[in-house]
Amino acid sequence: MPFDPPPVTSSDPSSSDPSSEKVILINHPLVQHKLTIMRQVETHTQDFRRLLKEIAMLLAYEVTRDLPLKKQTIKTPLAEMEAPMLAADKKMVIVSILRAGQGLLDGMIELIPTAKVGHIGLYREPTTLTAVEYYLKLPLDVEHRDMLVVDPMLATGNSAVAAVDRLKEANPASIKFVCLLAAPEGIQHFHEQHPDVPIYTAAIDERLDDHGYIVPGLGDAGDRLYGTR
Ligand code: URA
Repeated sequence: MPFDPPPVTSSDPSSSDPSSEKVILINHPLVQHKLTIMRQVETHTQDFRRLLKEIAMLLAYEVTRDLPLKKQTIKTPLAEMEAPMLAADKKMVIVSILRAGQGLLDGMIELIPTAKVGHIGLYREPTTLTAVEYYLKLPLDVEHRDMLVVDPMLATGNSAVAAVDRLKEANPASIKFVCLLAAPEGIQHFHEQHPDVPIYTAAIDERLDDHGYIVPGLGDAGDRLYGTR
């Protein structure tokens, strides 16, 4: 099937409204360097895990660029001032797509400690590659919160689509999808189903192989994260 390249925006601080863009490429040199080490076949589990957590913090920094601030009166040792703080009424919920999503979640909650956390469990049916849900647990007050849905690999897009289908039922104020690597096929499929949900990714790779793996990719993110293969 021919692939229509999506409009891709780089994470430029001067870009006006990141939420209105479809695909936001986080091409910060630190992210790109760490991702290259993660891709390498000789990188061991403990380094892979640490690097994913570090990249997650850097992605969280970019994804939260548009969070609203409000002025608060504070005292420094020298004077009183009106200083910006995150608007307290706009707390976030981060939803991890199990199991590889945990690797991104760990870094993100370190940077956004007030975020609430949800989990959705989906596995890929090996022959059809369709997503089958086996677990869902969300905070009670998801409504009116901004939601980040995290999964390192946007491959076929089936899991991401199924997760967002389900999470929209909880009525969050907004949804952003955050991954490490995306395949063009996955981006296209995801945005056919969820054109309103922007994708934040550190790289867009060439293609999927016959098993639905991203090429060149980094292999199975869950296995590399937990050393299960
Ligand atoms: N899931 C992975 O972990 N890796 C891929 O390449 C595709 C899906």
